[in-house]
Amino acid sequence: MTVKPTILIVEDEAKMRRLLELNLGEDGFATVSAADAETGLKLLQNAPVDLVLTDVKLPGMDGMEFLQTVKRLNAALPVVVMTAFGSVEMAVDAIKAGASNYMLKPFSLDEMRLVVRKELDVRRLRDENRSLREALHQRFEHPNIVARSAKMQEVLATVERVAPTNSSVLLGGESGVGKDMIARALHEKSRRASGPFVKINSTAIPENLLESELFGYEKGAFTGAVGSKRGKFELADNGTLFLDEIGDVPLPMQVKLLRVLQEREFERLGGTRTLKVDVRLIAATNRDLRAALEEGTFREDLYYRLNVVPIDIPPLRDHKEDIPELVTLFLARSAADSGQEFEGLTPEAMKLLMAHHWPGNVRELQNIVERATALAKGPVIDVIDIHLDPPRGRPPGSSTAALPEGMTLEQWEDEMIREALRRAQGNKSQAARILGLSRNALRYRLSKIGIEDEPEKDSSG
Ligand SMILES: Nc1ncnc2c1ncn2[C@@H]1O[C@H](COP(=O)(O)OP(=O)(O)OP(=O)(O)O)[C@@H](O)[C@H]1O
Ligand SMILES: [Mg+2]
Repeated sequence: MTVKPTILIVEDEAKMRRLLELNLGEDGFATVSAADAETGLKLLQNAPVDLVLTDVKLPGMDGMEFLQTVKRLNAALPVVVMTAFGSVEMAVDAIKAGASNYMLKPFSLDEMRLVVRKELDVRRLRDENRSLREALHQRFEHPNIVARSAKMQEVLATVERVAPTNSSVLLGGESGVGKDMIARALHEKSRRASGPFVKINSTAIPENLLESELFGYEKGAFTGAVGSKRGKFELADNGTLFLDEIGDVPLPMQVKLLRVLQEREFERLGGTRTLKVDVRLIAATNRDLRAALEEGTFREDLYYRLNVVPIDIPPLRDHKEDIPELVTLFLARSAADSGQEFEGLTPEAMKLLMAHHWPGNVRELQNIVERATALAKGPVIDVIDIHLDPPRGRPPGSSTAALPEGMTLEQWEDEMIREALRRAQGNKSQAARILGLSRNALRYRLSKIGIEDEPEKDSSG
Protein backbone atom coordinates (compact mmCIF):
# COMPACT_ATOMS: atom_id res chain seq x y z
CA MET A 1 0.00 0.00 0.00
CA THR A 2 1.61 3.26 -1.03
CA VAL A 3 -1.17 5.54 0.16
CA LYS A 4 -1.16 6.11 3.94
CA PRO A 5 -4.09 4.40 5.62
CA THR A 6 -6.41 6.97 7.19
CA ILE A 7 -7.68 6.55 10.73
CA LEU A 8 -10.66 8.41 12.11
CA ILE A 9 -10.32 9.14 15.83
CA VAL A 10 -13.47 9.96 17.79
CA GLU A 11 -12.56 10.94 21.35
CA ASP A 12 -14.02 13.71 23.49
CA GLU A 13 -11.00 14.05 25.78
CA ALA A 14 -8.72 16.55 24.03
CA LYS A 15 -5.47 15.26 25.59
CA MET A 16 -6.17 11.67 24.67
CA ARG A 17 -7.20 12.68 21.15
CA ARG A 18 -3.97 14.60 20.67
CA LEU A 19 -1.88 11.69 21.97
CA LEU A 20 -3.48 9.28 19.54
CA GLU A 21 -3.08 11.68 16.60
CA LEU A 22 0.62 12.16 17.36
CA ASN A 23 1.45 8.51 17.80
CA LEU A 24 -0.50 7.24 14.84
CA GLY A 25 1.00 10.04 12.75
CA GLU A 26 4.49 8.94 13.78
CA ASP A 27 3.62 5.42 12.78
CA GLY A 28 2.91 6.58 9.25
CA PHE A 29 -0.87 6.84 9.36
CA ALA A 30 -2.96 9.78 8.28
CA THR A 31 -5.50 10.82 10.91
CA VAL A 32 -8.70 12.81 11.03
CA SER A 33 -10.32 13.39 14.39
CA ALA A 34 -13.55 14.49 16.01
CA ALA A 35 -14.64 15.28 19.60
CA ASP A 36 -18.12 13.81 19.10
CA ALA A 37 -19.93 11.18 17.06
CA GLU A 38 -21.89 13.63 14.91
CA THR A 39 -18.72 15.31 13.66
CA GLY A 40 -17.18 11.89 13.23
CA LEU A 41 -19.97 10.81 10.90
CA LYS A 42 -19.53 13.96 8.83
CA LEU A 43 -15.81 13.33 8.48
CA LEU A 44 -16.50 9.76 7.52
CA GLN A 45 -18.62 10.90 4.63
CA ASN A 46 -15.99 13.29 3.34
CA ALA A 47 -12.74 11.41 3.70
CA PRO A 48 -11.74 7.89 2.68
CA VAL A 49 -11.27 6.28 6.08
CA ASP A 50 -9.62 2.86 6.54
CA LEU A 51 -10.26 2.39 10.25
CA VAL A 52 -12.27 4.05 13.03
CA LEU A 53 -10.97 4.34 16.56
CA THR A 54 -13.76 5.50 18.86
CA ASP A 55 -14.45 6.04 22.52
CA VAL A 56 -17.66 4.46 23.78
CA LYS A 57 -18.58 7.23 26.20
CA LEU A 58 -19.23 10.31 24.13
CA PRO A 59 -21.35 13.44 24.56
CA GLY A 60 -24.49 13.44 22.40
CA MET A 61 -24.71 10.29 20.30
CA ASP A 62 -22.87 7.66 22.31
CA GLY A 63 -20.19 5.37 21.01
CA MET A 64 -22.48 2.35 20.63
CA GLU A 65 -24.97 4.20 18.50
CA PHE A 66 -22.12 5.70 16.50
CA LEU A 67 -20.71 2.20 15.93
CA GLN A 68 -24.05 0.93 14.66
CA THR A 69 -24.45 3.88 12.32
CA VAL A 70 -20.95 3.42 10.93
CA LYS A 71 -21.59 -0.28 10.33
CA ARG A 72 -24.79 0.53 8.54
CA LEU A 73 -22.97 2.95 6.28
CA ASN A 74 -20.03 0.67 5.59
CA ALA A 75 -20.08 -2.83 7.03
CA ALA A 76 -16.54 -3.56 5.88
CA LEU A 77 -14.96 -0.65 7.76
CA PRO A 78 -13.10 -1.87 10.87
CA VAL A 79 -14.11 -0.08 14.07
CA VAL A 80 -12.02 -0.37 17.22
CA VAL A 81 -13.73 0.80 20.43
CA MET A 82 -12.03 2.18 23.52
CA THR A 83 -13.83 1.53 26.80
CA ALA A 84 -12.95 2.30 30.38
CA PHE A 85 -11.31 -0.41 32.41
CA GLY A 86 -14.00 -2.28 34.34
CA SER A 87 -16.60 -2.07 31.57
CA VAL A 88 -15.83 -5.31 29.82
CA GLU A 89 -19.55 -5.92 29.22
CA MET A 90 -19.58 -2.77 27.16
CA ALA A 91 -16.71 -4.09 25.10
CA VAL A 92 -18.53 -7.36 24.53
CA ASP A 93 -21.66 -5.49 23.43
CA ALA A 94 -19.56 -3.47 21.03
CA ILE A 95 -18.09 -6.61 19.46
CA LYS A 96 -21.61 -8.00 19.11
CA ALA A 97 -22.66 -4.79 17.39
CA GLY A 98 -19.91 -5.22 14.83
CA ALA A 99 -16.78 -3.68 16.35
CA SER A 100 -13.76 -5.58 15.10
CA ASN A 101 -11.74 -5.10 18.30
CA TYR A 102 -11.63 -3.22 21.61
CA MET A 103 -9.09 -1.67 23.95
CA LEU A 104 -9.54 -1.19 27.65
CA LYS A 105 -8.40 2.19 28.95
CA PRO A 106 -5.75 2.84 29.98
CA PHE A 107 -3.86 1.05 27.26
CA SER A 108 -0.23 1.33 26.23
CA LEU A 109 0.65 2.91 22.92
CA ASP A 110 2.27 -0.36 21.87
CA GLU A 111 -0.95 -2.18 22.46
CA MET A 112 -2.82 0.43 20.43
CA ARG A 113 -0.37 0.08 17.54
CA LEU A 114 -0.69 -3.67 17.59
CA VAL A 115 -4.48 -3.60 17.49
CA VAL A 116 -4.63 -0.96 14.73
CA ARG A 117 -2.08 -2.79 12.58
CA LYS A 118 -3.84 -6.09 13.00
CA GLU A 119 -7.24 -4.71 12.05
CA LEU A 120 -5.82 -2.93 9.01
CA ASP A 121 -4.10 -6.15 7.94
CA VAL A 122 -7.29 -8.11 8.25
CA ARG A 123 -9.07 -5.54 6.16
CA ARG A 124 -6.33 -5.51 3.51
CA LEU A 125 -6.39 -9.29 3.26
CA ARG A 126 -10.14 -9.25 2.97
CA ASP A 127 -9.93 -6.67 0.17
CA GLU A 128 -7.27 -8.68 -1.62
CA ASN A 129 -9.35 -11.77 -1.28
CA ARG A 130 -12.33 -10.03 -2.72
CA SER A 131 -10.44 -8.70 -5.71
CA LEU A 132 -8.95 -12.14 -6.29
CA ARG A 133 -12.38 -13.64 -6.12
CA GLU A 134 -13.66 -10.98 -8.48
CA ALA A 135 -10.82 -11.71 -10.86
CA LEU A 136 -11.74 -15.37 -10.74
CA HIS A 137 -15.32 -14.51 -11.40
CA GLN A 138 -14.48 -12.04 -14.10
CA ARG A 139 -16.78 -12.80 -16.98
CA PHE A 140 -15.23 -12.90 -20.41
CA GLU A 141 -17.50 -11.85 -23.15
CA HIS A 142 -17.22 -11.95 -26.86
CA PRO A 143 -19.98 -10.92 -29.24
CA ASN A 144 -21.81 -13.96 -30.61
CA ILE A 145 -19.98 -16.44 -28.43
CA VAL A 146 -22.06 -18.12 -25.77
CA ALA A 147 -19.88 -18.92 -22.78
CA ARG A 148 -21.90 -19.03 -19.62
CA SER A 149 -20.41 -22.34 -18.48
CA ALA A 150 -17.17 -22.52 -16.51
CA LYS A 151 -15.63 -24.66 -19.26
CA MET A 152 -16.27 -22.09 -21.99
CA GLN A 153 -15.26 -19.26 -19.66
CA GLU A 154 -11.92 -20.98 -19.31
CA VAL A 155 -11.58 -21.06 -23.08
CA LEU A 156 -12.40 -17.35 -23.35
CA ALA A 157 -9.99 -16.51 -20.52
CA THR A 158 -7.19 -18.19 -22.47
CA VAL A 159 -8.25 -16.38 -25.64
CA GLU A 160 -8.05 -13.11 -23.75
CA ARG A 161 -4.60 -13.93 -22.44
CA VAL A 162 -2.96 -15.18 -25.63
CA ALA A 163 -4.71 -13.11 -28.30
CA PRO A 164 -2.39 -10.10 -27.91
CA THR A 165 0.74 -12.27 -28.19
CA ASN A 166 2.28 -13.69 -31.34
CA SER A 167 2.36 -17.23 -29.99
CA SER A 168 1.11 -20.02 -32.19
CA VAL A 169 -2.09 -21.57 -30.96
CA LEU A 170 -3.28 -25.13 -31.49
CA LEU A 171 -7.04 -25.47 -31.20
CA GLY A 172 -8.31 -28.91 -30.37
CA GLY A 173 -11.80 -30.30 -30.07
CA GLU A 174 -14.36 -32.45 -31.80
CA SER A 175 -16.08 -31.36 -34.96
CA GLY A 176 -18.53 -28.51 -34.45
CA VAL A 177 -17.30 -27.34 -31.05
CA GLY A 178 -16.33 -23.89 -32.28
CA LYS A 179 -12.70 -24.06 -33.41
CA ASP A 180 -13.27 -21.74 -36.35
CA MET A 181 -15.16 -19.37 -34.11
CA ILE A 182 -12.38 -19.25 -31.50
CA ALA A 183 -9.71 -18.81 -34.20
CA ARG A 184 -11.56 -15.70 -35.38
CA ALA A 185 -11.96 -14.43 -31.82
CA LEU A 186 -8.19 -14.78 -31.33
CA HIS A 187 -7.63 -12.70 -34.45
CA GLU A 188 -10.20 -10.07 -33.52
CA LYS A 189 -8.73 -9.61 -30.05
CA SER A 190 -5.16 -9.36 -31.33
CA ARG A 191 -3.19 -6.34 -32.47
CA ARG A 192 -3.49 -7.83 -35.94
CA ALA A 193 -7.26 -7.38 -35.93
CA SER A 194 -7.09 -4.77 -38.69
CA GLY A 195 -4.94 -7.13 -40.77
CA PRO A 196 -6.20 -10.10 -42.79
CA PHE A 197 -7.57 -13.36 -41.37
CA VAL A 198 -6.77 -16.07 -43.90
CA LYS A 199 -8.00 -19.63 -43.59
CA ILE A 200 -6.81 -22.72 -45.35
CA ASN A 201 -8.30 -26.16 -44.92
CA SER A 202 -5.84 -28.84 -45.89
CA THR A 203 -8.45 -31.56 -46.36
CA ALA A 204 -10.43 -29.44 -48.79
CA ILE A 205 -7.43 -29.02 -51.09
CA PRO A 206 -5.92 -31.81 -53.19
CA GLU A 207 -2.47 -32.71 -51.94
CA ASN A 208 -0.68 -31.58 -55.09
CA LEU A 209 -2.27 -28.13 -54.89
CA LEU A 210 -1.69 -27.53 -51.20
CA GLU A 211 1.85 -26.29 -51.63
CA SER A 212 0.97 -23.71 -54.28
CA GLU A 213 -2.03 -22.63 -52.21
CA LEU A 214 0.18 -22.01 -49.20
CA PHE A 215 3.22 -20.51 -50.84
CA GLY A 216 1.98 -19.27 -54.21
CA TYR A 217 3.74 -19.81 -57.53
CA GLU A 218 5.57 -18.04 -60.30
CA LYS A 219 4.59 -18.10 -63.93
CA GLY A 220 5.63 -21.38 -65.51
CA ALA A 221 6.22 -23.16 -62.19
CA PHE A 222 4.12 -26.03 -63.50
CA THR A 223 1.93 -26.71 -66.49
CA GLY A 224 -1.00 -24.42 -66.24
CA ALA A 225 0.77 -21.75 -64.19
CA VAL A 226 0.13 -19.05 -66.75
CA GLY A 227 0.63 -16.20 -64.33
CA SER A 228 2.09 -15.85 -60.87
CA LYS A 229 -0.05 -16.12 -57.77
CA ARG A 230 0.35 -15.21 -54.13
CA GLY A 231 -0.10 -17.95 -51.56
CA LYS A 232 -1.97 -17.85 -48.26
CA PHE A 233 1.19 -17.02 -46.32
CA GLU A 234 1.66 -13.88 -48.37
CA LEU A 235 -2.01 -12.99 -48.19
CA ALA A 236 -1.94 -13.29 -44.41
CA ASP A 237 1.01 -10.90 -44.00
CA ASN A 238 0.46 -8.69 -40.92
CA GLY A 239 -2.50 -10.83 -40.02
CA THR A 240 -3.43 -14.33 -38.95
CA LEU A 241 -3.17 -17.57 -40.90
CA PHE A 242 -5.58 -20.26 -39.77
CA LEU A 243 -4.49 -23.77 -40.74
CA ASP A 244 -7.59 -25.89 -40.33
CA GLU A 245 -7.38 -29.68 -40.07
CA ILE A 246 -3.65 -29.53 -39.56
CA GLY A 247 -3.64 -33.23 -38.68
CA ASP A 248 -4.36 -34.07 -42.31
CA VAL A 249 -1.42 -32.20 -43.81
CA PRO A 250 0.76 -34.80 -45.57
CA LEU A 251 4.27 -35.35 -44.23
CA PRO A 252 6.18 -33.69 -47.11
CA MET A 253 4.12 -30.54 -46.62
CA GLN A 254 4.76 -30.67 -42.89
CA VAL A 255 8.49 -30.30 -43.57
CA LYS A 256 7.86 -27.23 -45.68
CA LEU A 257 5.53 -25.72 -43.10
CA LEU A 258 8.11 -26.23 -40.41
CA ARG A 259 10.67 -24.24 -42.35
CA VAL A 260 8.34 -21.26 -42.72
CA LEU A 261 7.49 -21.40 -39.04
CA GLN A 262 11.14 -21.46 -38.08
CA GLU A 263 12.46 -18.92 -40.52
CA ARG A 264 9.39 -16.92 -41.40
CA GLU A 265 10.49 -16.97 -45.01
CA PHE A 266 9.82 -19.01 -48.12
CA GLU A 267 9.84 -18.91 -51.91
CA ARG A 268 6.93 -19.16 -54.26
CA LEU A 269 6.83 -22.38 -56.27
CA GLY A 270 9.21 -22.02 -59.17
CA GLY A 271 10.48 -18.77 -57.72
CA THR A 272 13.93 -17.76 -56.52
CA ARG A 273 13.07 -14.65 -54.53
CA THR A 274 12.87 -15.29 -50.77
CA LEU A 275 9.79 -13.72 -49.23
CA LYS A 276 9.52 -12.68 -45.60
CA VAL A 277 6.18 -12.48 -43.85
CA ASP A 278 4.84 -11.46 -40.47
CA VAL A 279 2.12 -13.99 -39.79
CA ARG A 280 0.52 -15.31 -36.62
CA LEU A 281 -0.37 -18.94 -36.89
CA ILE A 282 -3.42 -20.68 -35.53
CA ALA A 283 -3.86 -24.35 -36.27
CA ALA A 284 -6.84 -26.57 -35.55
CA THR A 285 -7.44 -30.27 -35.46
CA ASN A 286 -10.26 -32.56 -34.41
CA ARG A 287 -7.89 -35.49 -34.16
CA ASP A 288 -5.61 -36.50 -31.36
CA LEU A 289 -2.31 -35.21 -32.69
CA ARG A 290 -0.37 -36.94 -29.94
CA ALA A 291 -1.57 -40.29 -31.26
CA ALA A 292 -0.52 -39.15 -34.73
CA LEU A 293 2.93 -38.37 -33.33
CA GLU A 294 3.24 -41.89 -32.01
CA GLU A 295 2.07 -43.33 -35.27
CA GLY A 296 4.61 -41.24 -37.12
CA THR A 297 2.03 -39.47 -39.25
CA PHE A 298 2.70 -36.10 -37.70
CA ARG A 299 6.12 -34.56 -37.20
CA GLU A 300 7.08 -33.94 -33.63
CA ASP A 301 9.06 -30.76 -34.37
CA LEU A 302 6.10 -29.25 -36.20
CA TYR A 303 3.78 -30.26 -33.40
CA TYR A 304 5.83 -28.41 -30.80
CA ARG A 305 6.09 -25.35 -33.06
CA LEU A 306 2.33 -25.20 -33.42
CA ASN A 307 1.38 -26.23 -29.94
CA VAL A 308 2.91 -23.27 -28.10
CA VAL A 309 -0.48 -22.52 -26.58
CA PRO A 310 -3.01 -25.36 -26.68
CA ILE A 311 -6.68 -24.50 -26.38
CA ASP A 312 -9.02 -27.45 -26.07
CA ILE A 313 -12.62 -26.64 -26.70
CA PRO A 314 -14.95 -28.96 -24.78
CA PRO A 315 -17.65 -30.98 -26.53
CA LEU A 316 -21.17 -29.61 -26.05
CA ARG A 317 -22.21 -32.56 -23.86
CA ASP A 318 -19.66 -31.30 -21.31
CA HIS A 319 -21.15 -27.80 -21.13
CA LYS A 320 -24.85 -28.39 -21.57
CA GLU A 321 -25.65 -25.42 -19.35
CA ASP A 322 -24.84 -23.27 -22.40
CA ILE A 323 -27.63 -24.88 -24.44
CA PRO A 324 -30.48 -22.49 -23.46
CA GLU A 325 -28.46 -19.41 -24.39
CA LEU A 326 -27.20 -21.02 -27.59
CA VAL A 327 -30.82 -21.76 -28.51
CA THR A 328 -31.75 -18.14 -27.89
CA LEU A 329 -28.88 -17.00 -30.11
CA PHE A 330 -29.81 -19.37 -32.93
CA LEU A 331 -33.50 -18.49 -32.66
CA ALA A 332 -32.63 -14.82 -32.98
CA ARG A 333 -30.56 -15.61 -36.08
CA SER A 334 -33.39 -17.59 -37.63
CA ALA A 335 -35.75 -14.74 -36.85
CA ALA A 336 -33.43 -12.27 -38.55
CA ASP A 337 -33.24 -14.52 -41.62
CA SER A 338 -36.91 -15.39 -41.91
CA GLY A 339 -38.53 -12.29 -40.47
CA GLN A 340 -40.56 -14.56 -38.20
CA GLU A 341 -40.35 -13.99 -34.44
CA PHE A 342 -39.75 -16.86 -32.03
CA GLU A 343 -40.46 -16.69 -28.33
CA GLY A 344 -38.61 -19.81 -27.34
CA LEU A 345 -39.04 -23.46 -26.54
CA THR A 346 -41.61 -25.23 -24.42
CA PRO A 347 -40.07 -26.75 -21.27
CA GLU A 348 -40.53 -30.24 -22.79
CA ALA A 349 -38.72 -29.26 -25.96
CA MET A 350 -35.85 -27.80 -23.92
CA LYS A 351 -35.73 -30.99 -21.84
CA LEU A 352 -35.29 -32.97 -25.04
CA LEU A 353 -32.32 -30.85 -26.05
CA MET A 354 -30.75 -31.07 -22.60
CA ALA A 355 -30.95 -34.87 -22.68
CA HIS A 356 -29.35 -35.30 -26.11
CA HIS A 357 -25.73 -36.44 -26.40
CA TRP A 358 -24.72 -33.96 -29.15
CA PRO A 359 -22.16 -35.92 -31.15
CA GLY A 360 -22.14 -33.04 -33.67
CA ASN A 361 -21.75 -30.46 -30.90
CA VAL A 362 -22.83 -26.83 -31.33
CA ARG A 363 -23.12 -27.16 -35.10
CA GLU A 364 -25.65 -29.97 -34.63
CA LEU A 365 -27.61 -27.84 -32.18
CA GLN A 366 -27.59 -24.96 -34.62
CA ASN A 367 -28.95 -27.17 -37.41
CA ILE A 368 -31.66 -28.62 -35.20
CA VAL A 369 -32.83 -25.20 -34.04
CA GLU A 370 -32.85 -23.97 -37.63
CA ARG A 371 -34.86 -26.99 -38.74
CA ALA A 372 -37.28 -26.46 -35.86
CA THR A 373 -37.93 -22.85 -36.81
CA ALA A 374 -38.72 -23.92 -40.34
CA LEU A 375 -41.25 -26.47 -39.07
CA ALA A 376 -42.78 -24.51 -36.19
CA LYS A 377 -46.36 -23.39 -36.73
CA GLY A 378 -46.21 -20.59 -34.17
CA PRO A 379 -43.78 -18.48 -32.16
CA VAL A 380 -43.18 -21.26 -29.62
CA ILE A 381 -41.13 -24.32 -30.57
CA ASP A 382 -42.50 -27.58 -29.25
CA VAL A 383 -41.34 -31.16 -29.06
CA ILE A 384 -42.84 -32.11 -32.42
CA ASP A 385 -40.75 -29.43 -34.16
CA ILE A 386 -37.53 -30.91 -32.85
CA HIS A 387 -35.96 -33.64 -34.92
CA LEU A 388 -32.86 -34.98 -33.28
CA ASP A 389 -30.52 -37.14 -35.29
CA PRO A 390 -30.87 -40.71 -34.06
CA PRO A 391 -27.94 -41.80 -31.90
CA ARG A 392 -25.15 -43.32 -33.91
CA GLY A 393 -23.98 -46.85 -33.32
CA ARG A 394 -25.42 -48.78 -30.40
CA PRO A 395 -28.80 -47.89 -28.99
CA PRO A 396 -28.64 -46.10 -25.65
CA GLY A 397 -28.68 -48.43 -22.66
CA SER A 398 -26.54 -51.13 -24.24
CA SER A 399 -23.37 -49.26 -23.42
CA THR A 400 -21.77 -52.15 -21.53
CA ALA A 401 -21.54 -54.49 -24.52
CA ALA A 402 -19.10 -52.32 -26.45
CA LEU A 403 -16.69 -55.13 -27.38
CA PRO A 404 -17.38 -58.70 -28.42
CA GLU A 405 -17.29 -61.00 -25.39
CA GLY A 406 -13.81 -61.83 -24.16
CA MET A 407 -12.00 -59.58 -26.59
CA THR A 408 -9.70 -56.73 -25.64
CA LEU A 409 -9.80 -53.48 -27.54
CA GLU A 410 -6.41 -54.26 -29.03
CA GLN A 411 -7.42 -57.73 -30.23
CA TRP A 412 -10.55 -56.28 -31.71
CA GLU A 413 -8.59 -53.55 -33.47
CA ASP A 414 -6.21 -56.15 -34.93
CA GLU A 415 -9.20 -58.14 -36.11
CA MET A 416 -10.68 -55.08 -37.84
CA ILE A 417 -7.37 -54.40 -39.56
CA ARG A 418 -7.07 -57.98 -40.82
CA GLU A 419 -10.66 -57.87 -41.99
CA ALA A 420 -10.04 -54.63 -43.89
CA LEU A 421 -6.96 -56.13 -45.52
CA ARG A 422 -8.98 -59.18 -46.54
CA ARG A 423 -11.66 -57.02 -48.03
CA ALA A 424 -9.10 -54.89 -49.85
CA GLN A 425 -7.42 -58.11 -51.08
CA GLY A 426 -4.17 -57.04 -49.53
CA ASN A 427 -4.10 -53.57 -51.00
CA LYS A 428 -2.92 -51.43 -48.10
CA SER A 429 -3.97 -48.07 -49.48
CA GLN A 430 -7.46 -49.40 -49.94
CA ALA A 431 -7.46 -51.01 -46.49
CA ALA A 432 -6.38 -47.72 -45.00
CA ARG A 433 -9.29 -46.00 -46.72
CA ILE A 434 -11.75 -48.58 -45.42
CA LEU A 435 -10.45 -48.02 -41.89
CA GLY A 436 -10.34 -44.26 -42.21
CA LEU A 437 -6.61 -44.31 -41.48
CA SER A 438 -3.73 -42.71 -43.33
CA ARG A 439 -1.32 -45.00 -45.15
CA ASN A 440 1.31 -44.27 -42.48
CA ALA A 441 -1.02 -44.97 -39.60
CA LEU A 442 -1.93 -48.32 -41.11
CA ARG A 443 1.72 -49.20 -41.71
CA TYR A 444 2.44 -48.46 -38.05
CA ARG A 445 -0.41 -50.67 -36.86
CA LEU A 446 0.56 -53.49 -39.23
CA SER A 447 4.09 -53.50 -37.89
CA LYS A 448 2.63 -53.75 -34.38
CA ILE A 449 0.63 -56.81 -35.35
CA GLY A 450 3.71 -58.20 -37.03
CA ILE A 451 2.54 -58.03 -40.62
CA GLU A 452 5.49 -57.13 -42.81
CA ASP A 453 5.17 -54.11 -45.03
CA GLU A 454 6.10 -55.92 -48.21
CA PRO A 455 5.74 -54.15 -51.55
CA GLU A 456 2.12 -53.42 -52.34
CA LYS A 457 0.11 -55.96 -54.28
CA ASP A 458 -1.34 -54.46 -57.40
CA SER A 459 -5.08 -54.35 -57.08
CA SER A 460 -5.65 -53.52 -60.74
CA GLY A 461 -4.61 -57.02 -61.78
N1 LIG B 1 -20.03 -21.11 -27.83
C1 LIG B 1 -20.61 -20.81 -28.99
N2 LIG B 1 -21.41 -19.73 -29.08
C2 LIG B 1 -22.01 -19.43 -30.24
N3 LIG B 1 -21.89 -20.14 -31.36
C3 LIG B 1 -21.10 -21.22 -31.33
C4 LIG B 1 -20.42 -21.61 -30.15
N4 LIG B 1 -19.71 -22.73 -30.42
C5 LIG B 1 -19.93 -23.00 -31.71
N5 LIG B 1 -20.76 -22.10 -32.28
C6 LIG B 1 -21.26 -22.12 -33.68
O1 LIG B 1 -21.34 -23.47 -34.08
C7 LIG B 1 -20.96 -23.61 -35.43
C8 LIG B 1 -19.82 -24.59 -35.53
O2 LIG B 1 -18.63 -24.01 -35.01
P1 LIG B 1 -17.23 -24.07 -35.77
O3 LIG B 1 -17.42 -24.07 -37.26
O4 LIG B 1 -16.36 -23.01 -35.22
O5 LIG B 1 -16.77 -25.51 -35.30
P2 LIG B 1 -15.40 -26.29 -35.60
O6 LIG B 1 -14.88 -26.75 -34.30
O7 LIG B 1 -14.51 -25.43 -36.44
O8 LIG B 1 -15.92 -27.55 -36.40
P3 LIG B 1 -15.08 -28.47 -37.47
O9 LIG B 1 -14.12 -29.29 -36.68
O10 LIG B 1 -16.16 -29.30 -38.08
O11 LIG B 1 -14.43 -27.53 -38.43
C9 LIG B 1 -20.58 -22.23 -35.92
O12 LIG B 1 -21.69 -21.66 -36.56
C10 LIG B 1 -20.28 -21.48 -34.64
O13 LIG B 1 -20.51 -20.11 -34.77
MG1 LIG C 1 -13.78 -25.74 -38.34
